[in-house]
Amino acid sequence: MRIITLTAAVAASLALFAGASSAQVTDPLVVDGQTIVTSAPAPDFLDIDEVLSGWNFRTAETRALQTDDFENPAMIFVDQALDDWDTAEGTANKACADCHSGPEEFAGLRAELPRWNDDQGALFNMEAYINFCRTERMGADSLKLAKPRMDAMVALLSLQSRGDIINVAIDGPVADIWERGRELYYTRVGQLDMACANCHEDNYGNMIRADHLSQGQINGFPAYRLKNAKLNSTHGRFKGCMNNIRATPFAVGGEEFTALELYVASRGNGLAVEGPSVRN
Ligand code: HEC
Ligand code: HEC
Repeated sequence: MRIITLTAAVAASLALFAGASSAQVTDPLVVDGQTIVTSAPAPDFLDIDEVLSGWNFRTAETRALQTDDFENPAMIFVDQALDDWDTAEGTANKACADCHSGPEEFAGLRAELPRWNDDQGALFNMEAYINFCRTERMGADSLKLAKPRMDAMVALLSLQSRGDIINVAIDGPVADIWERGRELYYTRVGQLDMACANCHEDNYGNMIRADHLSQGQINGFPAYRLKNAKLNSTHGRFKGCMNNIRATPFAVGGEEFTALELYVASRGNGLAVEGPSVRN
């Protein structure tokens, strides 16, 4: 028996992609009077001209949910995280609130993440900062990645940077990790033998089955998805996309996804932080 491997050419001949049917919008996103940048000139290292937030590719109904914090279903989880903020835990019996003046203290932080943490000699994303405080400063357990409590806390802290322009550093100590992330982005994997770039760079704007393909940006994360009615983390989303192309996903929080997070975040340099966004 011959084992047949599906290649991207086969995937294309299976009519995975259909031409653009619904034009993407570039309306401004205005939340409670604040205009949030959803398109920008692409960073120099990209071959495309413009970077576009996933917001532009969603339907009018989905977009509307993100323009009003009372309608945005993600805000329920932000409220839960505010309770968590005040909850003392661990051997130090301390809450976030005991050491930090308030979540507002982290304004601007989300726009720079992931970034190199000099003290720890490692790349840190928001989850890493949160768990570092929990384990090293509170003596508490780390929160499980891509699970509701962590995703809610990431949403609360991301919200403090809403509208800030993403400016993730790609040089210096992170240069090699960024290069690794770029390599992963362009490497074909899985039974469908596809790379992130085949969908999110070569085919954004086209339809894939019922979905309007975006550039796969992460400026809107964590994202509330109508499909699963919860917050979704960046790594959770990467995992879902890898599953869809029938690849074995890398570990959430692992070295590959963290490198990919840095690279994908930098592809959005120039866009604004939208988290928590609403997606389908
Ligand atoms: C015992 C004190 C303490 C507690 C409790 C604590 N932190 Fe921290 N946290 C710090 C210190 C000290 C730093 C490093 C200095 C700084 O940036 O404020 C820090 C840094 C951070 C940073 C990185 C800030 C930056 O700009 O680099 C984040 C995010 C953070 N904490 C979130 C939290 C959250 C969320 C909680 C609760 C789960 C928490 N912290 C609990 C003391 C604490
Ligand atoms: C077969 C096509 C395909 C491949 C390959 C693929 N994705 Fe996706 N991805 C999708 C679809 C469809 C969606 C949902 C619609 C959209 O936002 O583009 C999506 C959504 C996303 C989103 C959410 C964007 C937003 O604004 O909410 C991110 C992030 C993402 N993908 C990252 C990746 C990464 C990283 C890879 C490579 C590991 C990858 N994708 C591979 C099809 C793909």
